[in-house]
Amino acid sequence: MQTIKKRVAEAILAGVNRLNAEHGFGAEEIAELLEYPPDPAMGDLAFPCFRLSRALRRSPVQIAEALVGLVRDEAIGSVTAVGGYLNIMIAGAYLASDVVPEILEKGDRYGAQSFGEGKKVVLDYSSPNVAKPFHIGHLGTTVIGHSLRKLHEFAGYDCFGINYLGDWGTQFGKLITAYRLWGSREMVEEGGIDKLVELYVRINNAIKGDAEKGIPARDDLADASRAEFHKLETGDEENLALWRWFVEISLKEYEKTYKQLGITFDSYLGESFYTDKMPAQIQKLREKNLLKIDDGASIVDLSDYNMPPCLILKRDGSTLYPTRDIAAAVYRKETYHFDKAIYVTSAQQCLHFAQWFKVVELMGYPWYGELVHVPYGTVSLNGEKLATRTGNVVLLRDLFALAIEKVKGIRREKGQIAENDDEIAEAVGVGAIVFYYLSNNRMKDINFVMDEALNFDGNTGPYVQYTYARACSVLSKAGGNDGKTVRITCEEEAALVKTLCRFGEKVCAAIADYEPSMITRFILDVAAAFNRFYHNCPIHTAEDADVRASRLNLTAAAKTVLGNAFDLICLRRTEKV
Ligand code: ARG
Repeated sequence: MQTIKKRVAEAILAGVNRLNAEHGFGAEEIAELLEYPPDPAMGDLAFPCFRLSRALRRSPVQIAEALVGLVRDEAIGSVTAVGGYLNIMIAGAYLASDVVPEILEKGDRYGAQSFGEGKKVVLDYSSPNVAKPFHIGHLGTTVIGHSLRKLHEFAGYDCFGINYLGDWGTQFGKLITAYRLWGSREMVEEGGIDKLVELYVRINNAIKGDAEKGIPARDDLADASRAEFHKLETGDEENLALWRWFVEISLKEYEKTYKQLGITFDSYLGESFYTDKMPAQIQKLREKNLLKIDDGASIVDLSDYNMPPCLILKRDGSTLYPTRDIAAAVYRKETYHFDKAIYVTSAQQCLHFAQWFKVVELMGYPWYGELVHVPYGTVSLNGEKLATRTGNVVLLRDLFALAIEKVKGIRREKGQIAENDDEIAEAVGVGAIVFYYLSNNRMKDINFVMDEALNFDGNTGPYVQYTYARACSVLSKAGGNDGKTVRITCEEEAALVKTLCRFGEKVCAAIADYEPSMITRFILDVAAAFNRFYHNCPIHTAEDADVRASRLNLTAAAKTVLGNAFDLICLRRTEKV
């Protein structure tokens, strides 16, 4: 896609070439140097001429002054030189003749890129641990992961989403023990995942005991749990059947949450799938002489890389989290032939990924550089950290339910009623949480405050979803738009279109930085520009028919861009509210 920056860069390059063709800059580099001035009165784009000073052997001020008369293009309305900067205004005529028609013509494909074509990306995200609660801490991996998937698809990549379920490990020994002690088939059938979590929490608490209350720790339960997991590992039929059942119950529950978010996966192959794929990698580690025995455990020494050792086998010979990740990566490379494998987890796992990525490199796999870890910060609720094992957790499901209820209340207060009220409340409630979460840079720690997320007048999901619905309703009231007539008659119209035409650049930047918040913030820019246009420029009562037709097309263009951007961050398009 021809972005506005590229087009202006070509024009600047042509101008610079006339000053002196031997400068060594290409259009791409010039495009990268172009800035969006914070104050639009200064121009829509600014070019810092000092970057050419050395190559052209002139001062920035001289360069800017010389270029003023040389930079010309239909897309450029005016060029001024201010203190070594070249300030460029985009021509209204160009916005009308090129940008808006392109948006209307491309529709759902507007903003799409092609640089990913022919390339495959596998994304490992969400990946909850079965039978442990699916809580607010998983929101990050789930929505960042899915958003990255959508972004990559939009750039032409062939994407494969993997939910690497934590469906193996000692927690199943605990769960089986707890189930036999305190549970029953009917109880779990009725209570579903909540019952499983309850059993899991109960046994963890029992194992720990409570010194303050004088309750002793139960080592016997810890031993029994280990024994049950060992039985599971060695193929005990009864334990395997229980395990399968537990996984199935959990998956059913997760799928409800995924459905609310509009998320699907291509594969649910979890940790258990890799059990028989680890020995070959352990063998390879041995052959490469990478394994060292340390206090009975097998490790890969990473001290040369300033990292603690990567644990491969415990003293009792059992495998570990990194062992499985290595086996899974090899399997995925061989099966899916990825060009890039993205893993989205909390930043607490940074060291884990750095370690096993390094081990893959040391093992001699040439594709180690294609592994990408995308971390994110922690989420707390009202300042409280969310623990997993204590039972003191906020489930994602409950958080969504609460948001949906609150949205219903707010709508009732505002007197908003629709046929599909439940559907709207779900779209807006879930959307509010997703949007709030994705508004921040992913590395930032977030304190979740529900009322902020649901503030219909703030920079929130409800605000942008209502803006989208407003655009839809303008169009349906008018019976649609003609798709042709466009005139830029005022500043608000120009500002809206200038905002819309940055979409493609934002998509590229969000992919380059693995940062969905760039899309979220862009959506806020569009919503603000659209609302300003909507409030200041009469549409239905416009002064003449052409202006009215044009404003309807601008509305349709804003709706298109908003809708496409919503798709990229798991926000539902709310046609009616
Ligand atoms: N199940 C893990 C957890 O909840 C996340 C798995 C991330 N993916 C991976 N390939 N290690 O902490």
